[in-house]
Amino acid sequence: DWTMAAFRQEAIARIREQVGSERVICGLSGGVDSAVAAVLIHEAIGDQLTCVFVDHGLMRAGEAQEVVSLFRFAYNIPLVHVEAQDTFLGALDGVTDPETKRKTIGKLFIDVFEAEAKKVGGAAFLAQGTLYPDVIESVSFTGGPSVTIKSHHNVGGLPERMNMKLVEPLRELFKDEVRALGRELGLPESFVGRHPFPGPGLAIRCPGEITPEKLDILRKADTIYLEEIRRAGLYDDIWQAFAVLLPVRTVGVMGDYRTYEYVCALRAVTSVDGMTADFYPFDMAFIGKVATRIINEVRGVNRVVYDVTSKPPGTIEWE
Ligand code: XMP
Repeated sequence: DWTMAAFRQEAIARIREQVGSERVICGLSGGVDSAVAAVLIHEAIGDQLTCVFVDHGLMRAGEAQEVVSLFRFAYNIPLVHVEAQDTFLGALDGVTDPETKRKTIGKLFIDVFEAEAKKVGGAAFLAQGTLYPDVIESVSFTGGPSVTIKSHHNVGGLPERMNMKLVEPLRELFKDEVRALGRELGLPESFVGRHPFPGPGLAIRCPGEITPEKLDILRKADTIYLEEIRRAGLYDDIWQAFAVLLPVRTVGVMGDYRTYEYVCALRAVTSVDGMTADFYPFDMAFIGKVATRIINEVRGVNRVVYDVTSKPPGTIEWE
């Protein structure tokens, strides 16, 4: 794609001009955007870049390992893997408000990035994969629109507090363009085609209080759901699909026993840029099969529901 080839060259020139001989820290979230930003910046400035992957304990099953191996082994880009599960989960203990969750997570991310910036002898810049829709919806770090729907994890007062300046080479792009750029940069198709995953991770898919037990249940249900979506060949038709663990218990019956367990909601939407979305019209037989597997295989869930809300009026995430 010639436009992406041109964009790549221009972006590299701009990054070099902005950064000069300073050092840059790039936060990797496990998603496509930050990965593409990192590979692009690495191409521009090589060893001046250090990537930081923060495991906040809110990743999906297996996600952390996939990202770490892609960068360390496939790209040979220096990557610091920060195990910060206890810090994040500790700070989120008892927090139920969605915006407080995002701000708590955003603040801790900045703390980690600043600490890592010191370790590399002082990085003047923080890079991130902010896209155009993030800027518009203020699903971004750097400010945003007059009406904030969700303030974004990367946020909470970042501009005032942080010493580093931002490098955001994807700020003008939409998701499909970032994917095209990722292909242009040679990222594997399996990675480029990934569904978006929000920075605050499972914290915003666990409405109400977050506990290790709930996260564990959520991961198991989510894994089964995505496995069935892939097996049915539907992954690439869907913009995003995930499980949500509701903070509600309902009564059920299994064999001769009464059960009293959590409700799991399944979400899947189609979208072009995440700003509007339609719920995905699965076959009811498919939903039934996923529900049966989750209830049989995941202890702690005895009821599964499917979310048929589009955006607007819903949002894609539940918080
Ligand atoms: P909503 O829920 O606002 O989501 O319809 C639109 C897209 O943005 C993602 N999202 C986030 N991404 N930090 C992120 O990095 C956040 O705080 C955040 N909130 C929502 C969401 O997964 C969807 O792709």
